Amino acid sequence: MAKSALTVGLVGAGFMGRAHSNAYKQAPQFFDLDVQPVLKAVCARNREHAQSFAAKWGYESVETDWRRLVDRPDVALIDIASPNDTHAEIAIAAAQAGKMVLCEKPLGRNAAESLQMVQAVESAGVRNMVWFNYRRVPAIVLLKRLMDEGRFGRVFHYRAKFLQDWTISRDLPQGGQALWRLDASVAGSGVTGDLLAHAIDTAMWLNGPISEVSAVTETFIKERKHNLTGKVEPVRIDDACAFLARFANGSLATFEATRYARGHKALYTLEVNGEHASAMWDLHDLHRLQFFDHRDENQLRGWRNIHVTDSEHPYMKHWWVPGLQIGYEHTFIHQIADFLQALSEGRQASPTFREALSTDSVTDAVLASAANRSWVPVHIP
Ligand SMILES: NC(=O)c1ccc[n+]([C@@H]2O[C@H](COP(=O)([O-])OP(=O)(O)OC[C@H]3O[C@@H](n4cnc5c(N)ncnc54)[C@H](O)[C@@H]3O)[C@@H](O)[C@H]2O)c1
Repeated sequence: MAKSALTVGLVGAGFMGRAHSNAYKQAPQFFDLDVQPVLKAVCARNREHAQSFAAKWGYESVETDWRRLVDRPDVALIDIASPNDTHAEIAIAAAQAGKMVLCEKPLGRNAAESLQMVQAVESAGVRNMVWFNYRRVPAIVLLKRLMDEGRFGRVFHYRAKFLQDWTISRDLPQGGQALWRLDASVAGSGVTGDLLAHAIDTAMWLNGPISEVSAVTETFIKERKHNLTGKVEPVRIDDACAFLARFANGSLATFEATRYARGHKALYTLEVNGEHASAMWDLHDLHRLQFFDHRDENQLRGWRNIHVTDSEHPYMKHWWVPGLQIGYEHTFIHQIADFLQALSEGRQASPTFREALSTDSVTDAVLASAANRSWVPVHIP
């Protein structure tokens, strides 16, 4: 049967532009899909960069203004992989033009911005999805399956960390190419919106809504030269954030993220402790799930180190033979494969913009709590 074409217009030709482009190319090779992505155009502000990116990844054309991309009748889906301050304007314009919209996380720089994006896609009735790619790690999907089966019993604790060390030097400037994450006007926030957004999305997907938070944040380096103005300017992002949380199901959580944990590059870890079982996962070993079941026979009870590569494991039958593992880029391939599958079945794929609004509402509450030094209830607009 002939496949239907889905014409893609990508905004942003950086780290995530590469991850998404790879996903569009690989998904149809490994998954049986009725929809074939067609890489119509990539948009980046610098034409030469856009052209070399297009040549490398196989895009048919380039644009340097996202508005022209959104106006193109030959593009059905706009994929936003540009810095956070561009997400809302592009997504709203794309939805109003009747395009499907995929957007990188965090959805908006705050929940108010995200709400406008949710309203735009919902009133236009267009398909939408946010690239919270950790929901597509086979070991994390396996954990979700085990939790949904009730194997943990009542959940008491959830613990997540996302540790990096790349901003420790006080000579590192803020703003501009690659360093926009240090500029609060572009990023919205620091590690809270960048790293904890992932940890919060995974946590609520696994363990349900978060009802209240109590946070502390710190900006260790108070001033940095700004790449765009050339002046030394105050740093307004949070360099580090730790918070306590209470889930609606009564369980307690601790979350921590920093870019000042010397030696850690991208150490995202999570742990769940329940009445009957516990589990641990670690991004540096992403194909493994550590699982402990108290109901095992006494003399054999212990932590199981599950190599999540069996064909019974989530997504793995699409890859190699049992025992051979996959990596980070596959999470994006899984996510777009799920989106294309849902599209051909007339379903909305997850997480939607509305689901991502919940995460942005938690990050807003975290930042408010740190500013007020008090517990803050999570309010989802
Ligand atoms: N899901 C994940 O794990 C993950 C990982 C990294 C980044 N992200 C998110 O992806 C987004 C992009 O991050 P990145 O690391 O790829 O950034 P990056 O700096 O590597 O790339 C950003 C790209 O956007 C382009 N750009 C900037 N402004 C533009 C505009 N107005 N119009 C068109 N193009 C523009 C830049 O030229 C660059 O090519 C951010 O929202 C970030 O939070 C998500």
